[in-house]
Amino acid sequence: MSPAASPDRRLAGKVALVTGASANIGGALALGLAQAGAAVACNDLIPATATASTARLVEAGYDAMALPFDVTDHDAAAAAVNQVVDRWGHIDILVNNAVKFDQAGVLDMTVERFRRQVDIIVGGAFIMTKLVATAMIEQSGRGAIVNILSTAAWQGQAGNVGYSTAKSAMINFTRSVAMELAPHGIRVNALTPTATIPDEPALAARTQAAFDSLASAGRMDFAGLNPWERLPTPADYVAPLVFLCSEDSAMMTGTNLTVDGGALARYWPQIPARGPR
Ligand SMILES: NC(=O)c1ccc[n+]([C@@H]2O[C@H](COP(=O)([O-])OP(=O)(O)OC[C@H]3O[C@@H](n4cnc5c(N)ncnc54)[C@H](O)[C@@H]3O)[C@@H](O)[C@H]2O)c1
Repeated sequence: MSPAASPDRRLAGKVALVTGASANIGGALALGLAQAGAAVACNDLIPATATASTARLVEAGYDAMALPFDVTDHDAAAAAVNQVVDRWGHIDILVNNAVKFDQAGVLDMTVERFRRQVDIIVGGAFIMTKLVATAMIEQSGRGAIVNILSTAAWQGQAGNVGYSTAKSAMINFTRSVAMELAPHGIRVNALTPTATIPDEPALAARTQAAFDSLASAGRMDFAGLNPWERLPTPADYVAPLVFLCSEDSAMMTGTNLTVDGGALARYWPQIPARGPR
């Protein structure tokens, strides 16, 4: 869709930074923010990933820049935030989305792996929020920060201790920082996605195969236990994110929007009757 034809330009004039902008969720969120009118900086640890997501936006006619850096590296992150402000003059939106998937349990995960995973999810969000909120306060004292959680933040999952623990910590990080930054006009909210089928066909096929093998091993049945006949795709998260970043949610802070097709609402032993979608 060309920028001129976009029906929803609620974020026109805003500048956003999305961390971990992969071809899956982060890249789709970056594109969604651009479609809503924002200039977008796409971060990733892997330079080629940041560049590819940025290229997707630029090719669609949007204003974007690639920002490869490690969100756990304070000095690199500070230089990147300065780059955004140098280029566009301000920064209004931060999406803390970067993640390291590393599934292991407390008995088999090394301390180093646990620390690195928690550091990327929680430490990275801390550093990015500190830097971006400081820039927001210096410029105008307004802004929106959205932390991407997971249904694993809200339930205990065996064999995924670092991820579940770190994502859960982000619930109260969201509330605490929301309370601290409210006097500056900065809102901080969370968005909870769940098992997602990527938009990109090859990635979608790989994800589907992984989900199918978990189900046939009797370990997890994402598709079978979700209340709808399909799982979410990254596109399902875009409108809720744009809402959280826009003045339409002006009185929302320290809270969470769950976009899981109702998965977390299900009474735990009940197998859902599934609806079309
Ligand atoms: N995919 C799902 O099914 C799913 C489900 C629930 C929640 N989520 C959440 O959605 C968000 C995006 O997930 P995704 O599936 O698109 O993940 P992804 O693995 O496709 O993308 C995450 C990106 O973060 C980058 N990254 C890792 N460490 C980094 C660091 N130190 N600094 C900067 N970038 C770093 C990776 O290189 C990667 O490109 C995550 O927060 C994840 O927890 C995903």
